[in-house]
Amino acid sequence: MILERKKAPNIAQIGRQYDRQYETMLQQFDAQKSFETLSKFTALMQVYAGAMREISTKLENLDDEFQYRDLPNPIHHMESRLKSLESILGKLQRRGLPLELESVKNNIRDIAGIRVICNYIDDVYEVADMLSKQSDVNVLRVKDYIKNPKPNGYRSLHIIYTVPVFLSDGPHVTPVEVQFRTIAMDYWASLEHQLRYKNTLPDTDIAEHSKALLACAQQLSHVENSMQEIHRDISRHREAVDAVERIASASRAQRAREDIARVDTVSSENSKEETASATAEPPAGM
Ligand code: GTP
Ligand code: MG
Repeated sequence: MILERKKAPNIAQIGRQYDRQYETMLQQFDAQKSFETLSKFTALMQVYAGAMREISTKLENLDDEFQYRDLPNPIHHMESRLKSLESILGKLQRRGLPLELESVKNNIRDIAGIRVICNYIDDVYEVADMLSKQSDVNVLRVKDYIKNPKPNGYRSLHIIYTVPVFLSDGPHVTPVEVQFRTIAMDYWASLEHQLRYKNTLPDTDIAEHSKALLACAQQLSHVENSMQEIHRDISRHREAVDAVERIASASRAQRAREDIARVDTVSSENSKEETASATAEPPAGM
């Protein structure tokens, strides 16, 4: 199942945001609150939206291929989002970077973000590998929090790709951050995110829940490994049965070809004999 993607922002939307909340920030952005800056920003966002579509399509194509080959789909679902203007400017400010378009282009790699949620850990690496090998995408950065989980228990594979987006003036090589994770990792990360950013709890409770969440992450990892083993065993067995079936069907086809060849030989010998007897001179005296 692949979820609908959000629409990319347009100039009117940006304008409304501009009027409402971000006026102060935008006053600093590019040192002038001009329509020109907003237009350029919107154009830039369209390129990121294009890059997000390019990568999403590649992932959907891979997923479709598995479906077509009657193999278990490695992707459970995908989500994608474009970073809001507010978060982009907030990130630049936090990092003490100039609030300029060039600074956005050079420093913020997660404007286009895709989350690929897989069933099993093997699927995570398989899908990531299939995408990383494609000739028109480039791997800019890999952070493997599955092999090296964060101290709080967070696990996911983060890869920043660059992909060319072809516009009227040529290719724009654009970064897209892809987070690959399993359903269990996603389930955990959603709650951890809620605890971190969306709670009104006192600090002592947050500390206690964080500790409990770390234990949950370890338990989930253990459960996932056990389920992965069962899944691998099922897949291995299925592959072995399929291979035997292919060999059996190939040898059935071979036998059938041999039978047909034998029938052909017999029938051609018969017809030779019939021709020979029909053309043979009648015995003397007849
Ligand atoms: P930032 O994007 O500024 O965070 O820097 P970065 O790109 O170097 O960070 P990183 O690749 O480590 O993580 C980026 C994204 O991963 C975040 O925006 C979150 O979506 C997700 N993420 C990373 N760490 C955590 C975590 O501890 N908990 C949860 N719930 N999500 C995380
Ligand atoms: Mg990031």
